[in-house]
Amino acid sequence: GKKAEEPAASAASEAAPAVAQVAEYVVGTDASYAPFEFQNDQNQIVGFDIEVLSAVADKGGFKVKFVNTPWEGMFATLAQGDRDILSSAITITDERKQSMDFSEPYFEARQLIAVGKGVTDVKTFQDLKSKKVAVQTGTTGDEVVQKLLGKTSSSIKRFESMPLALKELETGGVDAAVGDNGVVINYVKNNPQHGMTTVEDLQSFAPEYYGFAVKKGNQELLDKVNAGIKAIKADGTYDQIFNKYFGT
Ligand code: ARG
Repeated sequence: GKKAEEPAASAASEAAPAVAQVAEYVVGTDASYAPFEFQNDQNQIVGFDIEVLSAVADKGGFKVKFVNTPWEGMFATLAQGDRDILSSAITITDERKQSMDFSEPYFEARQLIAVGKGVTDVKTFQDLKSKKVAVQTGTTGDEVVQKLLGKTSSSIKRFESMPLALKELETGGVDAAVGDNGVVINYVKNNPQHGMTTVEDLQSFAPEYYGFAVKKGNQELLDKVNAGIKAIKADGTYDQIFNKYFGT
């Protein structure tokens, strides 16, 4: 039976009495999302989210191991137990809360429009009604554009990563792209030769809040993450990381 195969608890604790176990959690991240998560020249996964969660782990007394994980299918890896935490600029939404648990918010973002070279008639989000728009599949950017153009509109071009969506804009395959402001700004700034510009629309886009996600019901881990967030906000570590990436 099942019982006979389980090691006796007392024997196990006698075998390793004094070893303090530091838990290591596997963290999923779509590392094509600079400056939040990306790969540096040495192929290491780095970025704002990486530094924030690493600092959180330091405070919480646990370890984290970041694993590059495609955005599509990422949420399912929590339920399956392949990842313990997701750190991927994930916007906390009511719909997502039904299938996973989120930490306290750690970053405020908003959708931003990027338009291609020579596109001069986009002043507001509404102006995208007659345009071809690129988004990353399944993001909040995809959601807002779906609302404007219709879920099955052939004017929406979906890509598995944000750089691919912005590449399409660069090469003129679409008129615009919609995505998280930090990532869009970063890309447009780093690729000036393509003449892309950004259009802000504070009326159409509400603030969004990023959270770290854990498997639904994993309260123990969620508590540790939240305690860490609180600690790094209190002692200045968070501000230090924020200024490194977003300071002027
Ligand atoms: N914040 C947006 C969302 O939650 C986009 C996040 C995409 N993250 C990424 N690493 N690709 O839908």
